[in-house]
Amino acid sequence: MTKSKKVFLNGEYLPVEKAHISVMDRGFLFGDGIYEVIPVYQGSLFRFEEHLERLENSLKLTRIENPYSREEWRDIMLPLIDVTKDQYIYFQVTRGAAEKRDHAFPIGVKPTVFMMCNDIAPFNGKEEGVKAISVEDNRWSACNIKAIALLGNILLRQQAVEKDCAEAILVREGYVTEGSASNVFAVIDGILITPPKNNFILAGITRDVILELAEVNRIPYAEDIISLDALKTASEIWFASSTREILPVIELDGQLIAGGKVGRLWHTMNGLLQSYKTTYAETHK
Ligand SMILES: Cc1ncc(COP(=O)(O)O)c(C=O)c1O
Repeated sequence: MTKSKKVFLNGEYLPVEKAHISVMDRGFLFGDGIYEVIPVYQGSLFRFEEHLERLENSLKLTRIENPYSREEWRDIMLPLIDVTKDQYIYFQVTRGAAEKRDHAFPIGVKPTVFMMCNDIAPFNGKEEGVKAISVEDNRWSACNIKAIALLGNILLRQQAVEKDCAEAILVREGYVTEGSASNVFAVIDGILITPPKNNFILAGITRDVILELAEVNRIPYAEDIISLDALKTASEIWFASSTREILPVIELDGQLIAGGKVGRLWHTMNGLLQSYKTTYAETHK
């Protein structure tokens, strides 16, 4: 028999099948909550402080109380981790379960905290590149909050999946915002470009790491707007996220990008990221 998975729920570690929440939980009824995903390499929480900073920001913007300090959050995470594998911690905080369903904030209700740890499965097609489509970004304008209410993102991702694509590139008024669950990078005229941080994108932690690596390694880069027309002239396009890392795109809307081959800069950046991850894990035990 396989050992059942242990998760954390409201102060307790439980087998996943014993972890239950109320049907009155506002996360369930309204999607009223926020979440984070932190990769764990060799037992070390990758860019823990940055992820916690983003969590604190999401909580502040949604006015949900932060139940724990950073050290308490870390202490909750550690028992869930298997140090022999690459994994990721998923955790979410909802506004909690109120007596009645009412849009306005309930009074005197404690947030619900749920956390689990899963293996990072190697992403199929990372070395060969993936296909993508562009779609109109019809989500709300507070995409900087890492909200559990992901219906907009889900519907957009599904459009990509149904066209045999790995991800959708979201476009608002002619300009790229991000992917349905990732940030977007393009190499145009030899410069690595990613859209600037604002309320229409989630400030990805992987995005920041890539920009830092570009800076340190003197790779020309810019945080700048990218029109869909300009994107179509790119010599490379990548998606960036914690669980898929850097994913090269070889086809956009049925047209090959740079002849359908994974670009040179992707190989360089992927190499830099892999060394950075190893060094980070060794120095952040
Ligand atoms: C909409 C969206 N943008 C960007 C990202 C990338 O963020 P990170 O690099 O922190 O995983 C994600 C990750 O899930 C996302 O869902």
